[in-house]
Amino acid sequence: MITVMKGFDYRDNELCCEKVRIEDVAKKVGTPFYLYSQRSIIDNYRAFDKAFKEIDHLICYSCKANSNLSICRLLKEQGAGADVVSGGELYKALKIGVEPKRIVFSGVGKTREEIEYALKNNILMLNVESIPELELTDEIAGRLKKKAPIALRINPDIDPNTHPHISTGLAKSKFGIEISRAKEVYKKAKELENIEVLGIHMHIGSQITELEPFVDSLGKIVELIKELEKEGIELRYLDIGGGLGISYKKGEKTPTPKEFAKKLLSLIKGLKYRIILEPGRAIIGDVGILVTKVLYVKKTSKKNFVIVDVAMNDLIRPSLYDAYHEIIPIGKSKVQSPKSKVMVDVVGPVCESGDYLAKDRELAEVKSGDLLAILDAGAYGFSMSSNYNARPKVAEILVEKDKYCIIRKREGYKDLIRGEQEE
Ligand code: LLP
Repeated sequence: MITVMKGFDYRDNELCCEKVRIEDVAKKVGTPFYLYSQRSIIDNYRAFDKAFKEIDHLICYSCKANSNLSICRLLKEQGAGADVVSGGELYKALKIGVEPKRIVFSGVGKTREEIEYALKNNILMLNVESIPELELTDEIAGRLKKKAPIALRINPDIDPNTHPHISTGLAKSKFGIEISRAKEVYKKAKELENIEVLGIHMHIGSQITELEPFVDSLGKIVELIKELEKEGIELRYLDIGGGLGISYKKGEKTPTPKEFAKKLLSLIKGLKYRIILEPGRAIIGDVGILVTKVLYVKKTSKKNFVIVDVAMNDLIRPSLYDAYHEIIPIGKSKVQSPKSKVMVDVVGPVCESGDYLAKDRELAEVKSGDLLAILDAGAYGFSMSSNYNARPKVAEILVEKDKYCIIRKREGYKDLIRGEQEE
């Protein structure tokens, strides 16, 4: 047995998830599809939860990473709350019965309707990111004759050393309230009649693979908390956000939830706050794959192209962030013959040069019809997929031991015209 990823290994020359052969799934449901290991999702969640067991905490799973109802439900059953960023995500969380008092709502551009929706459903708190948003929230709450429970998202001005598109805690970013103005905004919030100031929130970015940025930011936030207390502003919740990275490349070392917790706990022990965490990728990233079929192998004078049946619309991370996802054949015999390795670009059928899954990658030689697995695709895979080029969205499969279940049906052509005028 060769372990490939959490919950995935080669057995009898075939890639399996738990006790299910991926090839059997492909035969039944066709390709492409995302496939997740239920056992590993639970293990990831429990590891995170256990890491923080010595303090009062709530894990609000960040639904944007993967908001499939079955996955959110599974996590809810494990005790997770939800971190949402839109009315749509709030709707999905409520739909599967996440208790409203376990839901936090972030985002720089919440609409009037979204704020009202959140207030009417009595969520735990809105993480407010600007003064105009604070004022609008106050106004809406007043109209609803409610007190809006809020935290302020503070931007600590820390470089998380991650891809610029996914770093959010620098002063120049659009996120949060500048730390230098935090006290002033807290004072203002306190004065607003329909606002209940409950917490403080930070989220500095995603796929962060070092602990220092978290420590530096949290250090600044803890300092601020002390200053606020001196001014008589006492809070109840400290929301540390998400952002812990996973290792996409073999041998890449990333902190475990335990190491992450140990560092952070040393800073917050003694605070009488309830700690909220918003992990997304660390829960679902390394427990899901995207299965694809080779359509053609095309050799040009400059390059070898492996043209597969998934594209940038199904997994946009390589095109958008130049992200690396390991790609392996579903059949082990191919993995074992390094002699047959060739340098290829793995590309999809979409009409864009930026449509690739891997560039200049050494891959075992493949032929048309072979199946490949794109690894670590559980987070920001399906959730960022689109119908570009009128491509129906792929299916999603959840494996439990020796069984699997289609948790999202593959879209058909009819789905592509839903809501449009046919005549
Ligand atoms: N909380 C807030 C307020 C967030 O904005 C995010 C992610 C999270 C929590 C969860 O972060 P995580 O634990 O998953 O790193 N599409 C990009 C990632 C964008 C992350 C956006 N915010 C990617 O594919 O890498």
